[in-house]
Amino acid sequence: MEMETNIEDDKPPGSPLIRDFDIGGFLNRENIFLKWEGVNPTGTQKDRISKKHVLNAISNGYDKISVATCGNYGASIAYYAEKYGIKAIIGIPSDYSNIRYNEIKRYNADIIEKPLKYEEMVEYMRDLSDKNNWYDASPGSKNNEIDINGYSQIAYEIYSQLSYVPDYVSVPVGNGTTLYGIYKGFYNLYKNNKVNKIPEFIAASTLNGNPVIYSFLNGYRKLHDLNPENISETEINEPLISYKSFDGQNALNVLYKTNGKAVYVTDDEMYSLSEGFKKYDNLPVLPASASAAAAALRIVDNETCVVVLTGSDKKWKRQ
Ligand SMILES: Cc1ncc(COP(=O)(O)O)c(C=O)c1O
Repeated sequence: MEMETNIEDDKPPGSPLIRDFDIGGFLNRENIFLKWEGVNPTGTQKDRISKKHVLNAISNGYDKISVATCGNYGASIAYYAEKYGIKAIIGIPSDYSNIRYNEIKRYNADIIEKPLKYEEMVEYMRDLSDKNNWYDASPGSKNNEIDINGYSQIAYEIYSQLSYVPDYVSVPVGNGTTLYGIYKGFYNLYKNNKVNKIPEFIAASTLNGNPVIYSFLNGYRKLHDLNPENISETEINEPLISYKSFDGQNALNVLYKTNGKAVYVTDDEMYSLSEGFKKYDNLPVLPASASAAAAALRIVDNETCVVVLTGSDKKWKRQ
C-alpha cells in the first residue's frame, strides 16, 4: 500500500536548483539541473530528516536520540539534537574514515565506536535504543515515515523550482531512502492531480557494492543482499556501500515502476567529477554525491534531468 505524506509539510531546510554550471565543458548541458543539497546546515540532504526526527523525539518525550552512521547523518542528528536541547548518541563503525568525527564531538554528542560493519552498527544501535528508551533515528526504524516525508520535500521543491516534472531524476543510493522519498514526493503530486507524470529514476551507486543496483541490473524483482565479504569500503564510497540496503526494496520497486535505470560508478569517476565541480563551478561536491552526475551523463541524452547532489565536503581531499 502506498503511504500518504503531507504535501504542505512544515518547512525543512531547502536547496537551490542550479542550471548554469560548467564543470570543464563535459557536463555543460542545458537539459541537466543540479539540486544542490550541500547548502543545508550540515551540508547534506540528511538535514531534511534529522530536524524532523529530533522534533519528533522531543514531542514524544525522549531526551536521547541515536543513530548509526558513516558520518553525514550522525553530524546532522548531532547538530539538530544540540540545537533543540536533547542528547545525541552516534554509532560509527570504527574502521570508517570518520571525517566528521570532530564535528560530531563539537555538537556535544556521545560517540560509540565498534568494530562492526555499518549494517551491524544499525542493528547494534537499534538494540541499545530499545533497551535504553532512546529514540531510534537509524534507517529502517519504526520512525522511517519521517525519512520518506523529509525527502519527498525535495520533489516538491524541484517541481516548484522548475514548474514542470523533469524526465529523469538521478540520485545516489546507499540504503535507497533518499531515492524512495523523492519518488514519494512526485507520486503524491501525481496522485493529487498537480502533475501529469512521475520522472524516471536513475539510481547511482558504487561499483559492485550496492544491493539495489545489483538487483536491478540482474533483473531481480526481490532485493538480493550482497555477501559482506565481497564489498569493500573506501573513503570515497562510504556513504553508498552496503551489503543490505534498509529501504532497498522500495528503491528497487521505484526503478521498475518508473522504467528507471541503475548505474555503477567507480571511485575514480566520482572523484574526478567532484574535482570538476569544485574547480569549475565552485561547488564542493562530495565524491559519493557526484555519482548521480556520473550516472546521468551515461543515461541522459536530450531529456531533462535533475541530478541530486546530496552533499558537500569542503575539506574533502583524497589521501
Ligand atoms: C551524502 C550522502 N549521499 C547519499 C547517501 C545515500 O542515501 P540513502 O542511504 O538514503 O540511499 C548518503 C547516505 O549516507 C549520504 O550521506
